[in-house]
Amino acid sequence: MKIILLGPPGAGKGTQAQSISKRFQIPHISTGDIFRKNIADGTELGTLAKGYMDKGLLVPDEVTIRMVKGRLSEPDCETGYLLDGFPRTVFQADELGKMLAADGEAVDTALLIQVPRDFIIDRMTGRRVCPSCGATYHLVYNPPMAKGVCDVCGTKVIQRKDDSIDTVVDRLDIYDRQTEPLIEYYLAKGILRVVDGTQAIPVVFESIVKLLGSKE
Ligand code: AP5
Ligand code: ZN
Repeated sequence: MKIILLGPPGAGKGTQAQSISKRFQIPHISTGDIFRKNIADGTELGTLAKGYMDKGLLVPDEVTIRMVKGRLSEPDCETGYLLDGFPRTVFQADELGKMLAADGEAVDTALLIQVPRDFIIDRMTGRRVCPSCGATYHLVYNPPMAKGVCDVCGTKVIQRKDDSIDTVVDRLDIYDRQTEPLIEYYLAKGILRVVDGTQAIPVVFESIVKLLGSKE
C-alpha cells in the first residue's frame, strides 16, 4: 500500500498520518519531519534546509528527491508507506512516478485532506509539537493530557518556527502555486480520494479508514 497525503499546511496530514501508519502498519515518511530531525542533529542537510524552511520556502527539488529516494530504499518500505509532505511539486511527483515505474509499481492512492483557508491560520498558530518524538498537538483542539508536555515521551512541547503568522501566509501562497496542481495531476491518474478535513480529528480518521478499506 503506497499512499500520498495531500493538503495545505495545517490540513491535518501529520495528525492523521500518525493514526494511519499505526492502523495500516506502514511507515509514516514526512519530509518535513526528516528535515527537522536533520536541523536538530546539526547535519549539513539540516543547515541547508533550515534556510528555506524558516522562510516558508520549499527546499530545492534535487535535495528533497535524493533524500526521499534514500529513505524509500530502506527495508521497512518494501511493503508500502505513507508519504506526508512529498511530493510537493509536479517535478517531485514525476520523479516519484518514474522511480516506482522502474520497479513496475505505482502510487495506490493520493488522499487529499480538504480544509478551507479560514481554518488553517487558527490550526497552525495553535499547533504545538514535540521536538523529541514529533507528536503534534493543538492548544484547543488536541491539547496534551498534562499541560505543555508530550503524552508520548514527556518532553516539553514547542511551537514550530515556521508557524508564525507571516510565514504561514507565505507557505499557503507557495502551496497554492506549487503544490495544489498535484490535485489535478492525481485526479487525471484516477487515484485521487478526498476527505473533509474540517471535522474533528477522530471523525476525519474514520472517513480515511473507510476510504482506504478497514484493517484491524
Ligand atoms: P511540513 O512539515 O510538511 O509542513 P506542511 O506541509 O506545511 O504541513 P504541516 O506540518 O504544517 O501541516 P499538517 O497538514 O501536517 O497539519 P497537522 O497535522 O500538524 O513542511 C515544512 C517545511 O519543510 C516546508 O515549508 C518546506 O520548507 C520543507 N519541505 C517539506 N517537504 C518538502 C518537499 N517535499 N519539498 C520541498 N520542501 C519541503 O495539523 C495542524 C494543527 O491542527 C495541529 O495543531 C493539529 O493538532 C490540528 N488539527 C489537525 N487536524 C485537526 C482537526 N481535524 N480539527 C482540529 N484541529 C486539527
Ligand atoms: Zn514526544
